[in-house]
Amino acid sequence: MADTLTITDNRTGTQYELPIKDGTISAMDLRQIKTDGEDFGLLSYDPAYKNTASCRSAITMIDGDKGILRYRGYPIEQLAENSTFLEVAYLLLNGELPKADEYSKWENEITNHTFVHEYVIRAMDGFLHDAHMMGKLVTFIATLSTFYPKSKAVRDKATRDEHIVKIIAKMPTLAAWCFRHSTGRPYLYPDNSLSYCGNFLNMLFRMGEQNFKPNPILERALNVLFILHADHEQNCSASAARAVGSSEADPYVSLAAAAAALYGPLHGGANEAVLRMLREIGDVKNIPSFIDGCKNGDKRLMGFGHRVYKNYDPRAKIIKDLAHEVFAVTGKNPLLDIALELEKIALNDEYFVKRKLYPNVDFYSGLIYQAMGFPVEMFPVLFAIPRSVGWLAQWQEMLTDPAQKIARPRQVYIGAGERDYVPMDKRG
Ligand code: SDX
Repeated sequence: MADTLTITDNRTGTQYELPIKDGTISAMDLRQIKTDGEDFGLLSYDPAYKNTASCRSAITMIDGDKGILRYRGYPIEQLAENSTFLEVAYLLLNGELPKADEYSKWENEITNHTFVHEYVIRAMDGFLHDAHMMGKLVTFIATLSTFYPKSKAVRDKATRDEHIVKIIAKMPTLAAWCFRHSTGRPYLYPDNSLSYCGNFLNMLFRMGEQNFKPNPILERALNVLFILHADHEQNCSASAARAVGSSEADPYVSLAAAAAALYGPLHGGANEAVLRMLREIGDVKNIPSFIDGCKNGDKRLMGFGHRVYKNYDPRAKIIKDLAHEVFAVTGKNPLLDIALELEKIALNDEYFVKRKLYPNVDFYSGLIYQAMGFPVEMFPVLFAIPRSVGWLAQWQEMLTDPAQKIARPRQVYIGAGERDYVPMDKRG
């Protein structure tokens, strides 16, 4: 049997043979299917791209039915168990795990680019103290674009590499300063003697002590959470990074667009929405009425469901286990009991089972972040820091893929037909 699709256009009786490659047909092959010479040819119609592959990618593989997630072929469970976020960042961007000397060079590069232009501190004070931290982060990622105009040379590998390092290095500093601004605490500068995650905790939580010693369990937990959030193939925010980057915009504004997409409660803003939902439920006895609200469309079980996973999100399993390690240090988050009971009820309820709705990465992560001392407005920021690596890996792959051009979808026009202008005094 040939790897082709035979299509008969019943409007003309003409048959077409379309090649099948990697489980896809090329949408451009549909354009030959016409009724006459005037016909533009067929388009595929796929709102929200539910069944459209926008690219060929070697970065991340998800099997939604089996609940499998691999970065460059490595199972997420093994990376969470054995690796560090910076090592995973190297893997996602370069395709291979680093050798010792490669890792040492990479870590030094990142460590030596953690400082951010002092202007950001002055600009930060222009925000209201209660400005949402994700709104501030999106602003300052884009602001960095104004400091590095040479980053526009996106077709030059050395330029791309330089700014990939800068962005990964500066995200924790920007995020920490957003946090310090909202809490009225003085801004702290990076301590390059600490690890990537240790330094982040330092810039967030150090107060009067001279030498900040990050709690090793919380530092490890942050590494695992950052590994789990690093990439997730063509999610909404990665697609935004690819689309904006395809116009040859610089990496800073491309990532600001991605961060803006992540902010939405259906995407990276879900971890914040989960905590608000759990607070609203307030007690396990209120769960049945909340579940009823989901079924009648009044409520949405935030942290549940996924476009790709029709099984348990493997990241949620790891985070659920990690929670117990963190709570041993921070004390248990009282909302955990509501979350566990909510999961138990939902996983046995026909409405969720039929729709294959399982906990996703956001269902438990917020409980850990809250226990670690982060306000809910910080949760999407904690998602954006590690995901900046995934966005950069996707952006880099897009720019080096000869099949890619500026992203410009088509449409099905359903508006008014041609009509003449009517002067204001003649409009009925
Ligand atoms: C992330 O894409 C990624 O990879 C994202 C991410 C990543 O790492 O980048 O994994 C991170 O964004 C995780 C998802 C976080 N979002 C949430 O937890 C918000 C709650 N979840 C949903 O809004 C929803 O499940 C989505 C947005 C995640 C997926 O939406 P889809 O694929 O468009 O599914 P859908 O809205 O068409 O839902 C199908 C059905 C609908 O019911 P019917 O119309 O068939 O009757 O399931 C229902 C929905 O109403 N449904 C839910 C639900 N999610 C879907 N009902 C109640 N609660 C939910 N959470």
